[in-house]
Amino acid sequence: MPLVTFSSPDYKDKTVYAVAGSHTETILKLAKEYKVPLHHDCQDGECGNCLVRVTSVDRKGRMSGFLTDKERGVLVELGKLTKDDIDRIAVDDMPSEWRLACQMIVRDEDILVEY
Ligand code: FES
Repeated sequence: MPLVTFSSPDYKDKTVYAVAGSHTETILKLAKEYKVPLHHDCQDGECGNCLVRVTSVDRKGRMSGFLTDKERGVLVELGKLTKDDIDRIAVDDMPSEWRLACQMIVRDEDILVEY
């Protein structure tokens, strides 16, 4: 099971086990389940309140992850991704370190989620 560590300057870090492979559990859903006070509003990839920075905690690097059109648009609007970043992510199948917690599905990797 992957380990997901939630980290914020305002709270003590919290590491939880996630059920990977279900392809339904988002970072936000996991945060709510474990009472991590991650900001959110629409829960539908539109408001950007659930912006998080996601990095790998091991040396393997992150798995790539699909960004929806909605998520891409919000990340550009927030200044976290440029058009060049989007092209590079698509061409090189790279993960974005900035994600929306309500859109990112937990995968089989150990990650640090900064919120
Ligand atoms: Fe609105 Fe995630 S809660 S974009």
